[in-house]
Amino acid sequence: MEKKVYKIAVLPGDGTGPEVVAEGLKVLDAAAAKYGFAFEKTTFNWGGEHYLATGEVLPEDAAETLKKFDAVFLGAIGHPKVKPGILEKGILLKLRFDLDQYINLRPVKLYPGVETPLANKGPEDIDYVVVRENTGGIYTGIGGISQKGTKSEVAIQSMVYNYMQVERCVRFAFETARKRHKDAPWRGLSQEDIAAGKIGQVTLCGKTNVLTFVFDLWERTFYEVAKDYPDIKTAYCHVDATCMWMVKNPEWFDVLVTCNIFGDIITDLGAMTQGGMGVSAGGNINPNGVSMFEPIGGSAPKYTGLGVINPVAAILAGAMMLDFLGETEAAKDIEKSVEFVTAKKMKSQSAGKMGYSTSEVGDLVVENL
Ligand code: IPM
Ligand code: MN
Repeated sequence: MEKKVYKIAVLPGDGTGPEVVAEGLKVLDAAAAKYGFAFEKTTFNWGGEHYLATGEVLPEDAAETLKKFDAVFLGAIGHPKVKPGILEKGILLKLRFDLDQYINLRPVKLYPGVETPLANKGPEDIDYVVVRENTGGIYTGIGGISQKGTKSEVAIQSMVYNYMQVERCVRFAFETARKRHKDAPWRGLSQEDIAAGKIGQVTLCGKTNVLTFVFDLWERTFYEVAKDYPDIKTAYCHVDATCMWMVKNPEWFDVLVTCNIFGDIITDLGAMTQGGMGVSAGGNINPNGVSMFEPIGGSAPKYTGLGVINPVAAILAGAMMLDFLGETEAAKDIEKSVEFVTAKKMKSQSAGKMGYSTSEVGDLVVENL
C-alpha cells in the first residue's frame, strides 16, 4: 500500500512558538515513522517579526494558500513590540474566519502527575471538552465607533448569531459526545462510570436569563438538535454558574458547548484547572475544510530562546491534529506517552521548573511512544 503523506502548513509564529512547534513536529515525525505515514511540511514565517520587518500582517492569499494543505500546525502569535490587536485580529482570527474554522475544541483534561489548583480533584474529575463557537458572536458582530473622543462618543459591538452558525456548532458538540462515549473504555472509564453518567452528556453554557434573544436561539436549537441524539443526555448552565461548577464540581461535565466569547473566557479558567497554559491545546476545526491546531499558551516573550518553555501543549495539539486526520491510533499513542511523561518524569508543568529542557521533554515523549 502507498504510504499516506499529509501536507502540513507549519506556522511557528512568535516568541516561544518556534521552540514548542519543533518539539511537536519531533513527536509527530516519530509517530509517523511508527505508524507508517509521513508528513510533507511547509513553513510560513507569518507573525510579529515578519510584520515589523515588512509591514505585512498576512499575505492577501494566505487563506487560499492554506486551503491546499491537510492541516495547519500553529505555534503562537503575539509580539511585545506590536500593538495588541494587530496580530491577533490580523493573523489568528483572520485565519479562523477565512478558513471557516467554526469550532474551537478545547479539551480540559488533567493528566496524571500534573498539579491542579482545585483542592481534592484528580484526573478522574477533570476530563471534559469545551466546544466553543469560533467564527461568530461578538467576535464578528456588527459594531463601530462614532464621534470618537467627544462626550457624544458611541461604541457598539454586538453579539450576532444566525441559526446556521448555532446549529452546526451544537451538532458538533453532540457528535463529540458520541465520540467520547465510544472512546470511554480507552479513556479508562468503567461501565459503572458510563452508567453513572460521567460521559455521554452535552451541557449548554449560556445566559438565557439576560441575553434573552441570542440564547433563546441557542436554547431552542440545542433542544431541537438533541432530538437527533437520544443516546446523549442534555443539561443547561448559565455561564457564571458554569465558572463556579468548573471549579467546584468539574466532574459534572463531559461536553460543554457555548458561544465564542463565553468559550474564550471559560477555556482559560479550564486551562488553569488542568495545569496551566503549558499543557492546554486547542483545535480550530472546520469539519469540511482545513483545521488549525495550536497550544493555547501564547508567545511567552520572557521565556523565548531559553529552552525552558513547556512543549506538552504543542505535542497534544499535534495529537489532536492526527486524530482529525484519521490517525487515531497514533494520536492515542502520543497521549499515552504524554501521560507517562507527566506522571513519571516531569517535576512541574511550569516553564523552567520541569526538571528537563524543552527539547528533553520532547525526547521523553518520543522515547515512550
Ligand atoms: C484564544 C485567544 C484569542 C481569542 C485571541 C488571541 C484573539 O485568546 O485563542 O482563546 O480571543 O480567541
Ligand atoms: Mn482566549
